[in-house]
Amino acid sequence: MTPFPTERPRRLRGSSALRAAFAETRLQPANLIAPLFLKEGLDAPAPIASMPGVLQHTLDSARKEARALAGLGVSGVLLFGVPASKDPSGTEAHSPTGIIQQAIRALKDEVSDEMVVIADLCLCEYTDHGHCGLLAGDEVENDSTIEVYGQIACSQAEAGADVVAPSGMMDGQVKAIRAALDDCGFKHTPILSYAVKYASSFYGPFRDAAEGAPRFGDRRSHQQDPANFSEALREAQLDIDEGADALVVKPALGYLDIVRAVKERFDYPVAAYSVSGEYSMIKAAAANGWLDERAAVLEALTSMRRAGADLLVTYSAKSAAEWLS
Ligand code: PBG
Repeated sequence: MTPFPTERPRRLRGSSALRAAFAETRLQPANLIAPLFLKEGLDAPAPIASMPGVLQHTLDSARKEARALAGLGVSGVLLFGVPASKDPSGTEAHSPTGIIQQAIRALKDEVSDEMVVIADLCLCEYTDHGHCGLLAGDEVENDSTIEVYGQIACSQAEAGADVVAPSGMMDGQVKAIRAALDDCGFKHTPILSYAVKYASSFYGPFRDAAEGAPRFGDRRSHQQDPANFSEALREAQLDIDEGADALVVKPALGYLDIVRAVKERFDYPVAAYSVSGEYSMIKAAAANGWLDERAAVLEALTSMRRAGADLLVTYSAKSAAEWLS
């Protein structure tokens, strides 16, 4: 006699209506944050060869993009500034008239409270050597760097940033930034901390977009070793203790175990940052006809939500929001 199954999980997969009704994970435009690059001195938006569909924006084109994103229900933008001039200490990062400060003011003016304006807080786009902090010889010097991060945080908050997002992976950066913000009158400005950021080869295309590749060496003395798991939980714990309001795990796709663990252990708001290389891989495969871009992007984003991420930082935010609506 044929041993018929007693359990039939296929019953709940029988139609798209059944599948939609019983989906355990929801992906909505409100889960999405769109990174935007703003380059000083551009006359027109410039394409980024390694990231098809992503632009270096002018203030004007960024306003239009932000307006469109807000209309689609995307929750926020994450701003990266590319200054016209760089120096060893990255002074443009905290200039009141710097590109990121101009961008924050323009976008806040454009979208008001329809969308959150988050400022990436780092020095790598602003230093002529491309490192995330001040150098002592060939070393990125921790303690003088976090002092500068405090100044950057204040200048970004003064420009109107809703949230600052430190991504430099210096020790004690969240504490230094919290103290600086409290001191300069912004005790209510939240810190979205890149608590867990790995030294990843998947940042390659971003370095074209933000023009912040290190001129020598790499970032392995401060970003985490992809081999490590426990260390990620220690990093997250430290940032929470130092006053982080929400945490970023980055990259996303290869690090969903970390997303899950950080969410379960701390139950803080968690953003997964699907980095430039993740975007470009899908784009390149789709351009060759090897993958269906829409299906691949929505599957990857759903997986990040399933792992426990509340927010997804993705260069596909606009397309995904369109597909979802
Ligand atoms: C540093 C920063 C980087 C990214 C975001 N912030 C580059 C790096 O650490 O080298 C990478 C993002 C991406 O690849 O999409 N400010």
